Amino acid sequence: MQKILILGKQGQIAWELQMTLASLGHVTVLGSQQLDLASPDAIRAQVRSIQPDIIVNAAAYTAVDKAESESELCLSINAIAPGILAELARESQSLLVHYSTDYVFDGTNTSPYRETDATNPLSVYGASKLAGEQAIIQADCPHLILRTTWVYGNRGKNFLLTILRLAAEKTELKIVADQIGSPTWSRSIAEATAQIIAQCHDDRSSLRGLYNLSAAGTTSWHGFASEIVDRYRSINPDLDLSIEQILPIPATDYPTPAQRPANSVLDNSKLLADFGVQLPDWKLSLAQCMQKSG
Ligand SMILES: NC(=O)c1ccc[n+]([C@@H]2O[C@H](COP(=O)([O-])OP(=O)(O)OC[C@H]3O[C@@H](n4cnc5c(N)ncnc54)[C@H](OP(=O)(O)O)[C@@H]3O)[C@@H](O)[C@H]2O)c1
Repeated sequence: MQKILILGKQGQIAWELQMTLASLGHVTVLGSQQLDLASPDAIRAQVRSIQPDIIVNAAAYTAVDKAESESELCLSINAIAPGILAELARESQSLLVHYSTDYVFDGTNTSPYRETDATNPLSVYGASKLAGEQAIIQADCPHLILRTTWVYGNRGKNFLLTILRLAAEKTELKIVADQIGSPTWSRSIAEATAQIIAQCHDDRSSLRGLYNLSAAGTTSWHGFASEIVDRYRSINPDLDLSIEQILPIPATDYPTPAQRPANSVLDNSKLLADFGVQLPDWKLSLAQCMQKSG
């Protein structure tokens, strides 16, 4: 039975991976308490002792705004650690599956981003994730890099849970309407990852690939927030929220330490062509996710 190591234990995607990858092998899951990715020696020691056939790295420094003032820590987790994982994967010819982000782009494209489009990160976080991708590609280990975007789910820190909390506390919200993307459920990502890995059972040694992996359809943060509130009210007709209106605002009215791309939409056609994998429309997945949380 193949050994699968998942990193990021408590994270949105890693949490779901623990369920979706269970049928594909013997799964070991490590969080930051068991393995600090800021410690290269600890990474080498732990991974060599586990001897995984597949490493799925869903751990990352994801505090996008805080990263602007913690660039060293962010780089060590998002750039140096993936490089070490890649070295180890090359050494043992295991497969490294790694997640990246649309924040490697500057968002000035007027159409969905393809894997081959030029990168130009606007933030420390985006630059660190790009450096992580490059370290993996340079190490030339068997790898799949999966770029995703606007991740939410029923646990962790995410836009869905933030909007539900604010909509219960406030009567009015102002939400950015000129940044577009595809809200992507962590469970859809984990299910797609399992479908992809299941197709990589033969000779993995020559596997190299960078893929976009996001939900179908697009919206703005304002559209996402409005849909969350509408969906909540349709699922819970007896439990009302205090929110009365959600006003659209430009990103310039909501300044943050880190700049975000105006266009975060990814073109997923390569993933469909090579693996036959396609994520559902964002509204459908949002409805399923919210139904599950009650
Ligand atoms: N969230 C998004 O909107 C989004 C969008 C595009 C791409 N992505 C990418 O998708 C992947 C997963 O994101 P996510 O949203 O699931 O992340 P998340 O919920 O923020 O979880 C990240 C995980 O990384 C772990 N981690 C942080 N520092 C660590 C360290 N020093 N050592 C070991 N583990 C550490 C955390 O562990 P602890 O909980 O133990 O601290 C946490 O469980 C990441 O590569 C991210 O860049 C995310």
